[in-house]
Formats: sequence, structure tokens, C-alpha cells
Amino acid sequence: MGASSALGQTYILEKDGQLYESRVSWFRELSGLDQTMGYEGSPPADINDAAGRLLHQDEKLRCFGCHATNAVQGRHLTLEKMMPGVQCEHCHESTEEHLAALQLGQPVPKELSGLMKMSAEQASEFCGQCHRTWAEIAAQPNPGIANIRFQPYRLTGSKCYDPEDARISCLACHNPHHDFKPETVDFDGKCLTCHAGGQTRRQGVSGF
Ligand code: HEC
Ligand code: HEC
Ligand code: HEC
Ligand code: HEC
Ligand code: HEC
Repeated sequence: MGASSALGQTYILEKDGQLYESRVSWFRELSGLDQTMGYEGSPPADINDAAGRLLHQDEKLRCFGCHATNAVQGRHLTLEKMMPGVQCEHCHESTEEHLAALQLGQPVPKELSGLMKMSAEQASEFCGQCHRTWAEIAAQPNPGIANIRFQPYRLTGSKCYDPEDARISCLACHNPHHDFKPETVDFDGKCLTCHAGGQTRRQGVSGF
């Protein structure tokens, strides 16, 4: 099985009940294999290590916690129940009851969760469970240029960011229920909600 995204795929190999992370990954940019990120310049110690790096229990729980659904229960991996990828239940409680009610045409029992009412800051914290929160990155001794991958951290540092303003929430630009197809022109309208000479909560921004 692999952890995959539009960016790449790393293979998790099983041998004698242990899990290993493959030293090579597939990268979309290359349309081929190259070294898994973080392995550059660390030659394998032996033949097993050449196939993959042994994943420790904590690491396994963390990888599967972010990349799969129903794969972790407490301190245990539950790969037999795992669904690959981030599914409804990962973000919503009671999804099954909700879908059952919809299918039977019965009233939907309750809101899936309070996710509709999140402020920009709350959305960053929520999405940051996996995309890393501001605090997680700020706590790293020297995040360097790599912090560019961590949107909640980067967004907080932007002049456009206002923790209370939903127009700059992750959800203003991303719908977690649709595939992500970045066409920059689609986002112009999102910027213009504040930059078209309209009002921001903070004064001072007018058109470009
Ligand atoms: C805190 C949550 C989290 C943990 C823990 C985590 N990942 Fe990820 N991973 C992500 C997110 C979110 C992305 C996609 C977005 C991005 O690149 O920022 C990603 C991207 C990836 C990708 C796509 C290529 C890339 O580098 O962007 C691979 C492959 C991957 N992870 C493998 C793993 C493996 C293997 C582990 C365990 C050793 C792991 N991840 C642990 C959240 C996590
Ligand atoms: C990555 C997290 C994530 C995943 C996965 C996800 N959702 Fe959501 N969902 C959200 C967020 C965040 C909102 C609030 C959206 C908004 O404010 O625009 C939401 C809103 C909703 C709503 C409307 C409001 C409500 O709370 O009642 C429904 C219905 C819903 N999701 C169903 C689903 C179903 C069904 C799936 C699986 C196919 C799913 N979601 C997968 C994050 C997620
Ligand atoms: C449970 C962990 C988790 C949560 C919560 C989560 N994500 Fe992700 N997200 C991922 C992983 C893992 C990937 C990499 C693709 C994959 O494996 O599905 C990803 C990929 C993405 C992508 C890139 C998709 C692509 O095709 O390149 C976007 C955009 C994104 N997430 C936005 C959000 C937003 C916005 C939220 C909050 C509403 C959110 N995510 C919450 C784990 C998560
Ligand atoms: C929630 C409202 C909001 C949204 C949405 C928004 N911005 Fe901003 N933006 C601001 C505010 C407020 C400032 C600071 C203006 C000032 O300092 O006078 C700003 C400043 C800027 C600046 C000037 C930065 C500088 O260094 O002086 C640029 C460029 C910019 N925004 C681009 C964008 C783009 C591109 C988008 C869409 C991807 C966007 N903004 C979305 C509110 C917003
Ligand atoms: C003002 C609009 C806007 C906001 C707000 C926003 N994004 Fe994005 N996001 C984009 C655009 C546009 C892209 C595509 C950039 C590109 O392809 O160069 C993107 C790309 C991404 C990707 C894919 C990165 C990759 O390398 O493929 C992820 C994951 C993501 N955003 C998560 C988030 C999260 C989490 C938040 C909230 C903290 C957030 N975004 C807030 C517009 C936004």
C-alpha cells in the first residue's frame, strides 16, 4: 500500500510483521522514482534497510493517522479496518447515521458537526491537525524554507490574514469535498472579496 497525493507516493512495505518505509518514492513532477524525501545522503546500513526504513510504533501511528481513516485506535494500528485516504469519518462524527437517514429519506439526525461555523483561525487549527498548525511549525528550532509546505503557518504570516475573517479561511478557497484543481484564475474572485475596494474588517485595504 502507499501513502499518496497528487505530489507523490511512498510505499509502506510489510515484512515479518514489521512495516518499512520505502527508500524510493514515485514523484509526479518526475513521473518516476527518486529517493524518498529525507533520505538523501544516508546510505542504507544493510540489505533490509536498503529496501526500506523500519517504522517505529509512534511513526506508524502518525503516518496512518494522517493518511488513512479508521487505521488507528488508541495506540494500535487497525489495518484490517483501514480505509485509504482521508474519508468523511476522519473529519465528521456520525457520518454513517447521516448518510443512512439521507438514503431512507428520513430527517437528518443532527448537524454532522460544527464545522460550518469555523472562523479562519479555527479552520487553520482544524486543517492543521494534518497540514500542521502554526504552533507546531513555530516550535521547530529551524523550520527554514521547508515551512513553505505548511499552509496554516504561512497564512498566519500573511498581511491578508485576519483570524476572525472567514474570507481568508482555508475553506474560502478549498472545498474538502471536491478534487483540487488549481487554476489560479479561479482564485481571483477569492482575493477580490477583500481587494476589490470593498471593506475589510481591518481598515486600510483598498484595491490594488
Ligand atoms: C501530521 C500529519 C502527517 C503525518 C504524521 C504524515 N503525513 Fe505525509 N502528508 C501529510 C499531508 C497533509 C500531506 C500533503 C500535503 C503536503 O505536502 O503538505 C502529506 C504528503 C505525503 C506524501 C506525498 C508527497 C509529499 O512529500 O508531499 C507522502 C508520500 C507522505 N506524505 C508519506 C508519509 C509517510 C510515509 C509518513 C510516516 C512516516 C507520513 N507521511 C506522515 C500529513 C502527514
Ligand atoms: C478534510 C475534512 C473533511 C472531509 C474528509 C469531509 N468533510 Fe464534510 N465538511 C468539512 C468541513 C470543514 C465542512 C464545513 C464546510 C464549510 O464551512 O464550507 C464540511 C461540511 C459538510 C456538510 C454540510 C454541513 C454539516 O456539517 O452538516 C456535509 C453534509 C458534509 N460535510 C458531508 C461530508 C461527507 C458525506 C463526506 C465524505 C464523502 C465529507 N463530508 C468529507 C470537512 C470534511
Ligand atoms: C486527517 C488528515 C487531514 C485533514 C484533517 C485535512 N487534510 Fe488536507 N490532506 C491530507 C492528506 C494526507 C493529503 C494528501 C493527499 C491524500 O493523501 O489524500 C491532503 C491534501 C490536501 C490538498 C491537496 C490535494 C491535492 O490534490 O493536491 C488540499 C488542498 C487540502 N488537503 C486541503 C485541506 C483543507 C482545506 C482541510 C481542512 C478543511 C484539510 N485539508 C484537512 C490530510 C488531511
Ligand atoms: C480577508 C481579506 C483578504 C483576502 C481574502 C485577501 N487579502 Fe490580500 N490583503 C488583505 C489585507 C487586510 C492586506 C493588508 C493591506 C495593508 O497593509 O494596507 C492585504 C495585503 C495584500 C498584499 C500586499 C502585501 C504587502 O506586502 O504589502 C498583496 C500582494 C495581497 N494582499 C494579495 C492577495 C491575494 C493574491 C489574495 C488572494 C489569493 C488576497 N490578497 C486575499 C486582505 C485580504
Ligand atoms: C486565498 C485562497 C487560499 C486560502 C485562504 C488557502 N489556500 Fe491553499 N491553495 C490556494 C491555491 C490557489 C493553491 C494552489 C497553489 C499552486 O498550485 O501553486 C493552494 C494549494 C494548497 C495545497 C496544495 C499544495 C501543493 O503543493 O499541492 C494545500 C494542501 C492547501 N492549499 C491547503 C490549505 C490550507 C490548509 C489552508 C488554510 C490554512 C489554505 N490552503 C488556505 C489558495 C488558498
